[in-house]
Amino acid sequence: MLEIIGLSKHYGDVHAVNDLSLTIEPGEIFTMLGANGAGKTTTLMVSLGFTEPTAGTVKICGIDVTKDPLEAKKHVAYVSENVMLYGNFTARQNLEFFTKLGGRKDVSDDEYREVMGRVGLQQDAFDRRVKGFSKGMRQKLGIAIAIMKNAEVILLDEPTSGLDPKSGAEFLQLLAELREENKAIWMTTHDIFRAKQIADRVGIMVEGNLVRIFSSDELEQEDLEKIYVEYVSQPAEQAA
Ligand SMILES: Nc1ncnc2c1ncn2[C@@H]1O[C@H](COP(=O)(O)OP(=O)(O)OP(=O)(O)O)[C@@H](O)[C@H]1O
Ligand SMILES: [Mg+2]
Repeated sequence: MLEIIGLSKHYGDVHAVNDLSLTIEPGEIFTMLGANGAGKTTTLMVSLGFTEPTAGTVKICGIDVTKDPLEAKKHVAYVSENVMLYGNFTARQNLEFFTKLGGRKDVSDDEYREVMGRVGLQQDAFDRRVKGFSKGMRQKLGIAIAIMKNAEVILLDEPTSGLDPKSGAEFLQLLAELREENKAIWMTTHDIFRAKQIADRVGIMVEGNLVRIFSSDELEQEDLEKIYVEYVSQPAEQAA
């Protein structure tokens, strides 16, 4: 479970995140929408313990990420828009390296190959150096690394941005499977269509404020795109 409690992160005069409270339960996919600079990535950076909050707390499986960052990190996997990989390693080698770094030592070769297949990486890419990979291929490998960590909380920052339509659809299917495995999943995206398709709840952030959360019923009934555009085209004070 991911718990964000009264979180604020300010950079000087820039209020990147303002008093954000949100809980994402096991078995839930929460999608966060918001214009560029709304504070989505900042929220993730604090949640991962990469930067300290100005105020408030984030807990991963009940562990305070600021007080006990090493323990908290064991329970969270992260997929960024630009997955960091070693270019001179093959896909297989990158996967093994990061899996071992995540503390798992007992993984068989079959298991590595199975997960690369599961995320839709072509078989002939498994033993190729990552240097020549397309963005989408890197993204898939990043997701494989996250799956191998087997963390309870998965944070994804625009994970579908480099994927072609078929891969994007497969990716959503994969997220649905991870939800079945009771993961608590947070994803940011600019793709309203996909957000709506996969999410149990969708949030909208405007200038650091979480201004609206749609439940799954509301997602079915309301015009998310229209409402989103209305929120992002007015100042945050009005929106909130
Ligand atoms: N390290 C930093 N130092 C100063 N300001 C920062 C820093 N990181 C983020 N900001 C500012 O915080 C605000 C929120 O940025 P953030 O990256 O969280 O937005 P975002 O919602 O992820 O946007 P995008 O959709 O473009 O990814 C922006 O005004 C940004 O300039
Ligand atoms: Mg961002």
